[in-house]
Parts: sequence; structure tokens; C-alpha cells
Amino acid sequence: MVLKVKMQRRSQAWFGGMDKDAFIHRSWMKNRGLPDDAFDGRPIIGICNTFSEFTPCNAHFRELVTDIKAGVLEAGGLPLEFPAFSCGESNLRPTAMLFRNLASMDVEEAIRGNPMDGVILMAGCDKTTPSLLMGAASCDLPTIVISGGPMLNGHYRGKTIGSGTDVWKLSEDVRAGVMSPQEFMEAESAMSRSAGHCMTMGTASTMASMVEALGVALPTNAAWPAVDARRARLARMTGRRAVAMVDEDLRLSKILTKEAFENAIRINGAIGGSTNAVVHLLAIAGRIGVDLTLEDWDRLGRDVPTIVDLMPSGRFLMEDFCYAGGIPVVMAEIADLLKLDALTVTGRSVGANIEGVVNYGPEVIRSRDNPLVESGGIAVLRGNLAPDGAVLKPSASSPHLLSHRGPAVVFENIEDFHARIDDPELDVDENSILVLKGAGPRGYPGMAEVGNMALPKKLLARGIRDMVRISDGRMSGTAYGTVVLHVSPEAAAGGPLALVRTGDMVCLDVEMRTLTLEVSDDKLAERRANWKAPEPAMATGYQSLYVKSVMQANTGADLDFLVGCRGAAVPRESH
Ligand code: FES
Repeated sequence: MVLKVKMQRRSQAWFGGMDKDAFIHRSWMKNRGLPDDAFDGRPIIGICNTFSEFTPCNAHFRELVTDIKAGVLEAGGLPLEFPAFSCGESNLRPTAMLFRNLASMDVEEAIRGNPMDGVILMAGCDKTTPSLLMGAASCDLPTIVISGGPMLNGHYRGKTIGSGTDVWKLSEDVRAGVMSPQEFMEAESAMSRSAGHCMTMGTASTMASMVEALGVALPTNAAWPAVDARRARLARMTGRRAVAMVDEDLRLSKILTKEAFENAIRINGAIGGSTNAVVHLLAIAGRIGVDLTLEDWDRLGRDVPTIVDLMPSGRFLMEDFCYAGGIPVVMAEIADLLKLDALTVTGRSVGANIEGVVNYGPEVIRSRDNPLVESGGIAVLRGNLAPDGAVLKPSASSPHLLSHRGPAVVFENIEDFHARIDDPELDVDENSILVLKGAGPRGYPGMAEVGNMALPKKLLARGIRDMVRISDGRMSGTAYGTVVLHVSPEAAAGGPLALVRTGDMVCLDVEMRTLTLEVSDDKLAERRANWKAPEPAMATGYQSLYVKSVMQANTGADLDFLVGCRGAAVPRESH
């Protein structure tokens, strides 16, 4: 039989022709029952599945992928699923962020090395979204993202509880002696009661919103709960759309433009999104070749009101957000701040996608003239303590601490913090500023989510619930507090943070966007002369490569040799 090839696709470099190599490529694929016409030039869609039972947020992906495959088949494509390193936030040690770049390498090489014409990325838990999109951006094939969807709202003893956000509150109640360990255990099952990822506007929901705002996922991607039939329907439509995108040659680089990133930053402000979106979007932009900086975050987010009333900044959860209409409604509400001409995976513009959307939950998605926070976004701070920048989320901070001067209480690393924070002798009060070193990309390593340090027990007992905290680490998107994060350069790289000592006065002024260490240059130079870089935790293996190559948070914490788009061409045959 002679194969009738419909058109020359990338996958035909493997499956087309009648030579020895084509035989090898087709024959082995036929061991699963694929007929001859599976290789006739129809679009082959690679489906990158981050299923893992160690990543509970993505553990329903075996079911979800069947809907995606159905959609690909319905549109005349051939779906072929492949796995990728699954960065699960709740279990991976020392921190899932250490493996974001590793997973991105896995995805990039799997896409480039295999015979696929288009790609579907199945993301859910925090790091799975950026890692997949970073890897795919370095290849630049037609690519579409589908998120796994959030869990249903948590309910405990008549109260709505949100992933992460209420964990911090409940654990502080236990430490303050107002909640029993038995009640604490009961709340665990009540919080996570369905498949899906965190249902607060934490990092997973933020990144699901970001891919929708960037235009690389279908409208409504962020909000449908994992167990809602409309999530399965969206998966099917994603499969269909991936096939059409191959025919249209709708590559990532046509969608991931500077305008798309600007839209995403605006939307992040409007939803009260996670600070983690900063490092992830910077890293994705670096892969596709878009010049995005911390200044863009401050400039574009400053005048955006937070209109979504979701935890951790507000009251509601993703299920409520879904009933209100989700991201399309948010986009419509701040349409005048968006680049409406930006192209999306629908093949249409942002403006066309949001035509006629209706807000069915004005309490959840508020109007522009009645925002949750007047000036949302991410504040980018600078000063002699953070020459290359630091970030803070004003909507999650206590208003009375946004301008604050106090003495530093310094912890050299996370072990030092755990050892001393509850010491009754620790010289600390509510005016102190907790400073943590060694939590950055190089120092932890992996830039852990430890920036929202737990408060000293003795202050919790007095009813204190927030203090200014400063570190080179990150904070869970589900957390809250007046927390300065991502200080760059980090302490382990010799940034000024390494030189802070207990008792030094530190001044935070969010309105002025400054973070100042009130120590003279001479004194800092003296301290620097005696400073020694900490030894890395591991001298071999992936961690050693990571520590040698990781960039600072202000440029996205990618590995320096991974930055850029390398395309999908592989000229050499393997046989
Ligand atoms: Fe996976 Fe929160 S732990 S999204």
C-alpha cells in the first residue's frame, strides 16, 4: 500500500516515506494497533501529562486525558500522550521550585525529540504550569495549555475553608492553643474534598489564570472545578483546537508576545494573584524571547484595582469564581487596560473572546468602582537592601505595616529560624522585622516558599497576626501578610541581605517602593570583607548544576543555559 500523505508536517520527517527509517518509526508505533492511515500526514498531537500520585493536584489527569484524546480524534488528529516530571507542591523536597527548570528541560527535549506537530500541556499544581510552558516555549510548536481545574470549596464545621490560606490560620490557632489537634486533623479532610488543585487564588489558580490571560489556554480555563463536567468538555475542545492550530501554524511565538505578557500582568493585579507569577512569567518570557522585566510588573500593576474577592486577599474561592464567570468577566471588567488585539489559541483576539460576557457574581468579581483593593498588582521595591529588586503583594498585606521602620531580627537560614523563633527569650516584638537569609534560588537551593515565616508564639498569644518579614525566598500564593520576597541579589550570592545583623534598622515604604537598610556604606563594606559564601548543600548531581547555573529571582530564576527559544528542528536521524 502507498501512503497518501495529506501535507508535509513535522511528524512526516519520521513517518513519511518508504525507507528503512520510516519502517522503523511506523512499525513500532503499530504495536498498539494503529492502522496505516494513522501516518498519512494527519496532525500528531503530543499530550504532555503531568499525572503523578505524588502530585495529588494532578492525580485525576488519567481521566482528563481521555477527553483530550477524544477531542483530538474528533478533529482528525492522532493523540499521543507522554509523561513529564511532575512538580507537586505539597510533597516535593526541598521545594518543588528546585525542579521547575529540570521539568522544563524534560518537556523541551521530549517535544523536540519526538514526532509531534502540535502540543497540549496538561498542567495543574503550581510548578507544573510554568515548567511545561517554559519547555514548550523553547521549541515553539503550536501549543495549547489545559489546566486540571481547582478543587471544590472546602467546608469545615459550617465554615468555608480555602487551600493553604486556612492552613496557616488553623496551624497558628493550634500554636496559640485555641484549636485542638483532633479538630486540626478533621479540617484536613474537609479542606481537600475533591480532585483538583488549590481552590484559593494561590499559585495554581493564578497560573491557570495567567495562561488564560496570555491567550495560550481556552477562555474559562482557570475556573471550572476539576470535577465539573465542563472541565471535561473544555478538555475535549482543547483537543479539537490543537489540531486546528497545527493547520493554522499558530505557534507559541505568535501568541506569547509582549502584549500578551502585559495583559497577564494586568490580570494578575485584578485577581490578586500570587507573587510567584512574577518569577514564572519572567522565566517564560525569557524562553520565548520577550523582553519582560520587574519594572514591567510595577508599571503595569500599579493602577490595576483588585476586583476579585478571593482568598488569600479576599473571601471567596474558585468555585464561586467559576459561577461568577471567571477570567473572561475579569478581562471584560478591565478591558480598557488590556491589549485587546492580542491573538489567542482560539485563533481570535482577546477582544473577540470576551464579547458579550456577563458577570453572574458581582460580589465575587466586583466592579471597577467598588474594588477589593484600589491599587492591586505587585509592588517592586528597591533600595540598598535589594539593589536588583524585591516584591510585595499589597493586597495580602496589613495596611498599617505598608510603611514601617523597625529593628531586624535576623535568621541565617531556615534551620536557625526554626530553632529560635519560639524561644521565649528571643528579643522580638510586633515592631520588629523578621529577616531570613539563605532561602533564595542558590541558597536553599530552589527558592523555597518560606518567606511568610510563622510569627513568634509569644506574639501570637498576644493576638499579633502580622509582622513585616523580609527574605530572598518566595511565599505560597495561598499565604498572606506583609511579606517582602525575592530579595535580589540573594544572600547566598553575596547580596546586601547577607550583611544584615540583628538590631539593624530597616525601613519599608511601599508607597515609595523602597526597602532600606539603615547601615552606613562603610560599615557594610567592613562586614562584606568578613563575609564568606555558604557551602552548597550538594557538590554533585542535579542540585550542583542548579546552584552553578541558576539566575536570580529578578530575571526569573531560570538556569542561564536554558534561556531562549531553540526551535523544534532536529536534522539528524537516530538510526
Ligand atoms: Fe498543588 Fe496547591 S498544592 S496547587
